[in-house]
Amino acid sequence: MADLLLGQVIRFSGDPFASPEAAQHLTHGAVLVDGGRIVAVGEAATLRASAPAARVHDYGQKLISPGFIDAHVHYPQTAIIASWGKRLIDWLNTYTFPEEMRFADPAYADQIANRYLDLVLARGTTTVCSYATIHPASVDAIFTAAQSRGMRLFAGKTCMDRNAPEGLRDTAQSAYDDSKALLEKWHGVDRLSYVITPRFSPTSTPEQLAALGALWRDYPDCLMQTHLSEQVDEIAWVRDLFPQSRDYLDTYEAQGLLREGAVYGHAIHLTDRERARLVEAGASLVHCPTSNTFIGSGLFDMTLATQLRVGLATDTGGGSNFSMLRTMAAAYEVAQLRGQSLHPSQLWWLATQGSARALRVEDKIGNIAPGMEADLAVIDLASTPAIAQAAARAQDLWQALFPTIMMGDDRAVAAVWVGGRQVTLT
Ligand code: GUN
Ligand code: ZN
Repeated sequence: MADLLLGQVIRFSGDPFASPEAAQHLTHGAVLVDGGRIVAVGEAATLRASAPAARVHDYGQKLISPGFIDAHVHYPQTAIIASWGKRLIDWLNTYTFPEEMRFADPAYADQIANRYLDLVLARGTTTVCSYATIHPASVDAIFTAAQSRGMRLFAGKTCMDRNAPEGLRDTAQSAYDDSKALLEKWHGVDRLSYVITPRFSPTSTPEQLAALGALWRDYPDCLMQTHLSEQVDEIAWVRDLFPQSRDYLDTYEAQGLLREGAVYGHAIHLTDRERARLVEAGASLVHCPTSNTFIGSGLFDMTLATQLRVGLATDTGGGSNFSMLRTMAAAYEVAQLRGQSLHPSQLWWLATQGSARALRVEDKIGNIAPGMEADLAVIDLASTPAIAQAAARAQDLWQALFPTIMMGDDRAVAAVWVGGRQVTLT
């Protein structure tokens, strides 16, 4: 039976970085959902008349949005989110690696995978692109948890064969073999996609990067994700480890890890050559603003969004919050510090269609349009007294939305739909 959702609706006819009119708003809108997909979107009165048998869900003044898409996360870092006082390399050694070691136990991996997906669904996030740990069972855990919830989800085994503790290292060969086996097991099953995942150049030998480049050549429709130029100290370390490389990006490029479908997290401190090559190659970048301020990495240059595919992400648990609302607020603040004022429509787009484009699934998720998969978040724009009194002064949707962007949290998420089914939020 079809479902008809009534409320305000936000949707995109294009990219608001290219055209301010690309974000559209229906005040008395409706979204008709059937068979897991969006069948129609339009005025409430029209759709009500055209689908009289549909089950009606009247969300009043609430905003029906595409579900949020978090384009770079580490689900195994769920339990160490908001750990105090370190910068990147110390943070990895002090908090991250010991926690990731615990994923040698598949029962722990299952527990955290399920906990993580419940946390993000409650915050309106319906798709994530996650790193797992080096343990193949950590990939099985997140895919199994996503599959049981009907979610579209991206993940891959994190590969590291140096500069990581004993117990968290694989080899070039085992990284290739394990990644290939997991890819064949999961890629394209239901709504799941495998992502080839070298952690970053400091923890992979050139041989391991080359092995994963070879795997990517054999499975060209997969994404490949890694980290790029997050902190200045890290870049200096890469220079020491790869003396023959022109720059950080070249450590990937030389091993076949730069082309369309490459998704680089952070990408803050880029040289002119790196920027030009990323644009030319059609790569995607992911902005992780709460992480970049929390770990002290730097301020992403949002003008890149006019040149290539840029998504938005929490970078859990380097990022300090699971919510894409808080992440939009941080993106706004970071842009302010760079003199780049982001419009609410651009922030919302980054968290939905922008991330979908970065992950190359903009034909499936990230928008409300006929044929798209029905992953939706229903947002209460007056979820707390503080937000309600600020939103009450609004003259248009963007002014009404902005207090929720800046101050909203899980209380703003009134309902979530995944694959055309309403999720019970925990
Ligand atoms: N660089 C390599 N690994 C990581 C990680 O787990 N988190 C962040 N923020 N940066 C990284
Ligand atoms: Zn990361």
